[in-house]
Amino acid sequence: MLVDIHNHILPGLDDGPKSIEEAVLLAENAVSNGITHIIATPHHHDGKYMNPSSVVEEAVVNLNKELDERLIPLEILPGQETHIYNTLIADLNNDLITLANSGKYILIELPINHIPPFTFDILFQIQLKGFIPIIVHPERNMVFRKDKQKLYDLVNKGTLVQVTASSLIGVNGRAIKKYIKYLIKHNIVHFISSDAHHYLKRPFLLKAAYQYIREKFSEGHVSYYSENAKHVINGTSFQPKRPISFKKVRD
Ligand SMILES: [Fe+2]
Repeated sequence: MLVDIHNHILPGLDDGPKSIEEAVLLAENAVSNGITHIIATPHHHDGKYMNPSSVVEEAVVNLNKELDERLIPLEILPGQETHIYNTLIADLNNDLITLANSGKYILIELPINHIPPFTFDILFQIQLKGFIPIIVHPERNMVFRKDKQKLYDLVNKGTLVQVTASSLIGVNGRAIKKYIKYLIKHNIVHFISSDAHHYLKRPFLLKAAYQYIREKFSEGHVSYYSENAKHVINGTSFQPKRPISFKKVRD
């Protein structure tokens, strides 16, 4: 069982596949990466796309049917990539989908060039309500890139972190790759996922990412990340590794 918790495979909902044919090609790409289960996470509340739960659920049913008919061994489950907004808490039991309907995990995207002032409070309140926030691709946020300790502070308070497979293997440049390796070394990463959008332009690359982790880190890291993703699909808790601060400790 190999699970991808962040991607845009549902056709016609966002900047992912434009047609069912493109979605099927992306699904085949997932299978060739060894992926068995996909939590589809179309953009939500990002200023361009809304994708309420009813729309996502229906698209998941349709794509699963299509995959069944074509004998493609892949199961799609519902989710959303929710862009942080200041009234998000009010929608927690209403419009927001927990990943795989787990009742527990939620993907949260931040803007690229700043961190909104309400971010810490909202991530805290999500947890008070019994949910676990997962910040997606912090490697794309300029503030987190400049100040890794800010991300450490969030993780230290219970937020989880997902980095993107393509960034880890260097598709988005050496600086970003190096940044992610720092995060991994400091136990700031909990998930590696594809954020796949297109079978050619932004494919899954999960196999290569896990192979990279195996070579540069350890088999233990590979099983940590793959087991964590299984917990998401099952809606079960796990004990994250204790994060290591980036602040230098004085003797
Ligand atoms: Fe995404």
